[in-house]
Amino acid sequence: MSEKTTQLKVSAIRNGTVLDHIPSRSVFAVVDILDLSRSENPVTIGSNLESRTLGHKGIIKIADRFFEDSELGRIALLAPDATVNVIRDYEVVEKKKITLPETVVGIAKCSNPMCVTNHQRVTTRFSTIIEAKKVKLLCHYCEKTTEEFIPLRH
Ligand code: CTP
Ligand code: ZN
Repeated sequence: MSEKTTQLKVSAIRNGTVLDHIPSRSVFAVVDILDLSRSENPVTIGSNLESRTLGHKGIIKIADRFFEDSELGRIALLAPDATVNVIRDYEVVEKKKITLPETVVGIAKCSNPMCVTNHQRVTTRFSTIIEAKKVKLLCHYCEKTTEEFIPLRH
């Protein structure tokens, strides 16, 4: 009996950045946080792709774009285990891990409905803390802890 296999291929890029091993549920939030919908570079997005280690994963390829570590730190809350592959002339020349920044400014929403940041045009600011292996956000204004990362829409 012949078995048909269907393979989804996302093409290789010549130069740029490949964000790999992103949890599928976070792919589009990562796109938002890196503001890729406004990018003029070719961007390829894959979600729910098969992965040997994660079951399913997401992948984002951005041609001709190289990110600063500080920009990549913004996705630490959504995809802490993502691999950042730097591609030059079709070769992976560097593999970086995401590092959790000490502060998270302007990208997350405070979960406290009473917080000033939910009532006035104040840029949100949190310190990151790790509790029971989970990243939590301590609000600079109301000092409440936000357990789940809620991206602010820009
Ligand atoms: N990639 C790409 N274009 C290239 C080279 C690599 O898009 N010119 C992508 C690959 O498709 C893969 C990622 O970059 O998703 C990392 O490539 P590579 O290190 O070759 O793959 P793996 O060994 O599977 O990576 P890892 O060990 O991090 O899972
Ligand atoms: Zn707050």
